[in-house]
Amino acid sequence: MQLRIFLGLFIPILSGLLAAGTVGAQQLLPLLPSPPVPLSNLQTPSKVSLGKTLFFDPKLSVNGSISCASCHMPKAGYADPRPVSIGVGGKRGGRNAPSVLNAAYLDRQFWDGRAGSLEEQAIGPLTNPVEMKNPSNRSVVERLRKISSYRRAFQEVFGGDVSIDHIGEAIAAYERTLVTPETPYDRFLMGDMKALSPNAKKGFLIFKGKARCVLCHSGALLSDQSYHNLGVPQTGTLAVDVGRYAISHDPADKGKFRTPPLRNVALTSPYMHDGTFRTLKKVVDFYNQGGGNSGFKTKDPLLVPLHLTTQEKNELVDFLLSLTGETALEKNQP
Ligand code: HEC
Ligand code: HEC
Repeated sequence: MQLRIFLGLFIPILSGLLAAGTVGAQQLLPLLPSPPVPLSNLQTPSKVSLGKTLFFDPKLSVNGSISCASCHMPKAGYADPRPVSIGVGGKRGGRNAPSVLNAAYLDRQFWDGRAGSLEEQAIGPLTNPVEMKNPSNRSVVERLRKISSYRRAFQEVFGGDVSIDHIGEAIAAYERTLVTPETPYDRFLMGDMKALSPNAKKGFLIFKGKARCVLCHSGALLSDQSYHNLGVPQTGTLAVDVGRYAISHDPADKGKFRTPPLRNVALTSPYMHDGTFRTLKKVVDFYNQGGGNSGFKTKDPLLVPLHLTTQEKNELVDFLLSLTGETALEKNQP
């Protein structure tokens, strides 16, 4: 099965790349139809269905008010349309919630890369004081054990009682179905030259060329999955956000954030780690002026003024709009 998918894609990918061209070592690739699945947590339909129920269930939070979907809203591309998220009791977090769509392809989770697997990530929000605010993992497990439909479902899927690991595994299995391959852009890379509008095609050339976006937004997710400081103005609840430095403790990482994937970016306004920009046009204007100044001396030297014309900026935005998965919304609504 895996092999067939691989061979089926290989030849179109190669010809698509030759046609589309690449800049330097930065490769742009179509998204594989399915993300990697760990052997310790294989996908089954009943596990995915349990994970979906958990994802949308506010009973996961301490007072029954907040579910994962409260901050990762299907109608907002599984991201949060508010600049920073609001958890139990109206507590405001410090960062903008990224989309869960295609998170299954990421090596590490969060703006600062502090979680590895989706299984590990999914447990975090349960006890986060500005998210679901449970006093302990144990208290969540005990609450779910009192609900007979959950007891039955965990028994059926895992052959055992509700446990924190199984909660994480079921949610992660569901998240591995929240993927959006086969966008117009993917079809274009695989050789369908008509998949992109003429303007989006021009925007693609600007993305790879004059605007230099591909220097960081590369690979199938359009992210190098590395950390950079663009000098994004810090707005919102936090006065200062040191970013990756809080995890690595390397002063060179101060103010650096993971390059976000750009897939479905049309759906996930506002933008940047603090949700400071409302529109893609504002993001492009920010890059056009050479980024900003956040006070940290780690600003990426790759950012320089771009001298894009108004038309070029519009074409670049048109290209970003082609990264939206058509099936993302309707397929996955509860
Ligand atoms: C109160 C709002 C809130 C709730 C509830 C919440 N999240 Fe999040 N989520 C966020 C924010 C904010 C971030 C980014 C935090 C950071 O990077 O420091 C995030 C990050 C993530 C990421 C990482 C995505 C990436 O691109 O790195 C995943 C996956 C995720 N959440 C899944 C979940 C799941 C599963 C649940 C339920 C168990 C959940 N979230 C509950 C706000 C929330
Ligand atoms: C030096 C690496 C680098 C370059 C070059 C770069 N980006 Fe980014 N991009 C990032 C990082 C890092 C962030 C997150 C920064 C933050 O939140 O502080 C980001 C954020 C974004 C976002 C917001 C996405 C979201 O989900 O919030 C968009 C859109 C974007 N970039 C588009 C572009 C475009 C278009 C270009 C070319 C004009 C470009 N980027 C060039 C690294 C880069």
